[in-house]
Amino acid sequence: MTSIHLQAKEIAEIVIKSSYSIAFTGAGISAESGIPPFLGEGGIWSRYNPEVLEIDYFFRQPMKSWTVIKEIFYNFFVDVKPNAGHKILSKWENEGMLDAIITQNIDNLHQMAGSCEVYEFHGTTSRLICTDCNKTFSSESILSEKMLPTCTDCNGLLKPDFIFFGEGIPLKAYQQSIDAARKCKVFFIIGTSGEVSPANQIPALAKESGAVIIEINKETSFYTNRISDYFLQGSAGEILPLIDHYIQLNKVNRP
Ligand code: APR
Repeated sequence: MTSIHLQAKEIAEIVIKSSYSIAFTGAGISAESGIPPFLGEGGIWSRYNPEVLEIDYFFRQPMKSWTVIKEIFYNFFVDVKPNAGHKILSKWENEGMLDAIITQNIDNLHQMAGSCEVYEFHGTTSRLICTDCNKTFSSESILSEKMLPTCTDCNGLLKPDFIFFGEGIPLKAYQQSIDAARKCKVFFIIGTSGEVSPANQIPALAKESGAVIIEINKETSFYTNRISDYFLQGSAGEILPLIDHYIQLNKVNRP
């Protein structure tokens, strides 16, 4: 058995025994769904100016900002589908094997795969929020209409309900993430570089609380030699099904 299979087998046993398990996900889990990264060569910010996501710019130039936001996050994201990685996490939740997902992604793919307990650390593209009265709307219903999208109650300007540069983390998701990290026994880190703060502080909370840290990434990250107990190098869409294979085998072989 190769070392990745041995690791996956061992992890399956740990996951089955765990009373509370969490997955912390980043852009890497959505890469196989065709969502490009933000940074680096071929990344979104190599094609667009990130100033459209600065909160001050958005209020000064809402039309310019919305035109680009719509193109990147709505016209382009509209056809993306969950991949094998998202689907395994949803399946594990159904089987009582995973308690929640903390995601830095705003693409809604975990929910599209069927996951219910998802803490969206950076918000979501799937909702719009009124910048005057805070009422929220499904982005689907509003974006087919005119630009600029406005609130049906107070006519205020709507913005996507994900965080722009210069905005804080949504309070509820922040608190839920901290609570989950503090009580978990197993903490998966999947497809995230750990370069973005304060999200990158969450795994350390799990480590401090004694959780086993299992990292899945194509490359080493900020976490790999610092806190990860297991590092499985490869794509999330391959490694998660491999761990699942051993989880299912383990369940069948149980007396
Ligand atoms: N499977 C697993 N890991 C992968 C895969 C894959 N198929 N493809 C890429 N990766 C890894 C990369 O090696 C990298 O470590 O995913 C990571 C992606 O890192 P980032 O692009 O920095 O994404 P993330 O960590 O989610 O960034 C956090 O930055 O731009 C902001 O708000 C944005 O939420 C985002 C935040």
